Amino acid sequence: MNSEAIRWCVLVKVAVIGLGYVGLPLLLALSKFYKIIGFDIDATRIRNLIKGFDNNTQAHFAPSQNIFFTSDSKYLLEAEVFIIAVPTPIYTNKTPDLSHLFKATKIVAKNLKKNDLVIFESTTYPFCTNLQCTKILSDYSKLVAEKDFFVGYSPERINPGDDTHCLENTTKIIAANTPYAKERMRALYEQITDVYIAPSIEVAEMAKLIENAQRDLNIAFINEVAIMCDRLNLSATEVLKAARTKWNFLDFAPGLVGGHCISVDPYYLAFIMKDFSYKPKILSMGRYVNNKMPSFLAKKIRNLSVELGLGSESQVLILGLSFKENCADMRNSKVVDLRKKFKKQGFKVKVFDPLIDRSHAKKLFGFKPLKSLESRKFDIVILVNAHKEFLDLDIRSLVREKHIVFDLKNILSYATHRL
Ligand SMILES: NC(=O)c1ccc[n+]([C@@H]2O[C@H](COP(=O)([O-])OP(=O)(O)OC[C@H]3O[C@@H](n4cnc5c(N)ncnc54)[C@H](O)[C@@H]3O)[C@@H](O)[C@H]2O)c1
Repeated sequence: MNSEAIRWCVLVKVAVIGLGYVGLPLLLALSKFYKIIGFDIDATRIRNLIKGFDNNTQAHFAPSQNIFFTSDSKYLLEAEVFIIAVPTPIYTNKTPDLSHLFKATKIVAKNLKKNDLVIFESTTYPFCTNLQCTKILSDYSKLVAEKDFFVGYSPERINPGDDTHCLENTTKIIAANTPYAKERMRALYEQITDVYIAPSIEVAEMAKLIENAQRDLNIAFINEVAIMCDRLNLSATEVLKAARTKWNFLDFAPGLVGGHCISVDPYYLAFIMKDFSYKPKILSMGRYVNNKMPSFLAKKIRNLSVELGLGSESQVLILGLSFKENCADMRNSKVVDLRKKFKKQGFKVKVFDPLIDRSHAKKLFGFKPLKSLESRKFDIVILVNAHKEFLDLDIRSLVREKHIVFDLKNILSYATHRL
């Protein structure tokens, strides 16, 4: 790091825009080194954060003296570096919803000054940062990009619920259009983790998308293996166990693919490819198979219940609502589809997840998950998430004599069925 970059590092004031699953951990890590403004448009979230409470994870933290939380954008005028980490979801027609990103970019543009640096961390497709976001910054600030202000991109790789891979021990890709901006980004992020400098913003944008698309596709293949094994009346668990004994067999497991990244990012890539007259083939098949998993599971379990002589009004319990283990994030949870399919088949369905916010679930999906499992009995229990809490739960105490315990995650020794 050159001496100018070190000096800049000490003096700079950073603002993080959007304090969700990505923005908050980043802000907390950076606050050890910088005076930092945490800005979010959600005033309730800001009130909680001021008290040191993160309602996403239900965790408490000690807010550092270096942090100033606010939902008032006027304070952003004090910042010299802006890091934007707002959601980039999809619309129901599976096209990118960039409304939050563009709105946050406009807020920053109105507070932009000469020599400021704007870093985008929100996931997006190649050319979005350089062509669309930078244009908003220029238009609304009346400043000239790469002369008056600088732009960078650094995709986030945070994995909520994973204690092993965190911000501090995961290499961060950084990219910017000028050597000066690159140096400033390197100086900033090297304080908290290792960095890899990508040759361009587009390379960094694309790398983020294919990391998640690759995972989506690998899981889709294993999900299709499970579907094929079912047709062949073979155990996918046994087939995968045997295949894993080969040194180069990739260890993926079947399951429901929801969430804010893996089930969304392939659509961002497919969307931009249209502008370049290319329709990705494998990407869309992966999405198709993974989206079919709730139907496949509902049908399979329905057939098992008929074989076992369970009534058509069986009581079903789904264990897990968040999109993956040890995390409270319910966005795009495929359990919602699974529940719907079961209900359509006439089953009485309850969902239990100790990690999620039940009122928020009601707001998102229109049903409230169970508060507790006390004194309840079910005919069918399906474990969809390997939450630590579920490992301590003896599901056998929740079922009637004739029952199905379907273990999608392959973690229960006493499960009656698995894939
Ligand atoms: N959650 C993950 O595991 C993860 C991992 C890697 C990358 N990402 C990407 O990071 C980005 C952020 O995701 P997230 O999961 O942190 O989202 P989130 O929904 O948890 O948090 C986003 C926050 O931004 C705030 N916000 C929305 N619009 C705003 C605006 N105009 N100005 C200020 N604040 C605004 C919201 O109130 C919310 O608190 C997305 O692009 C996502 O794809 C997420």
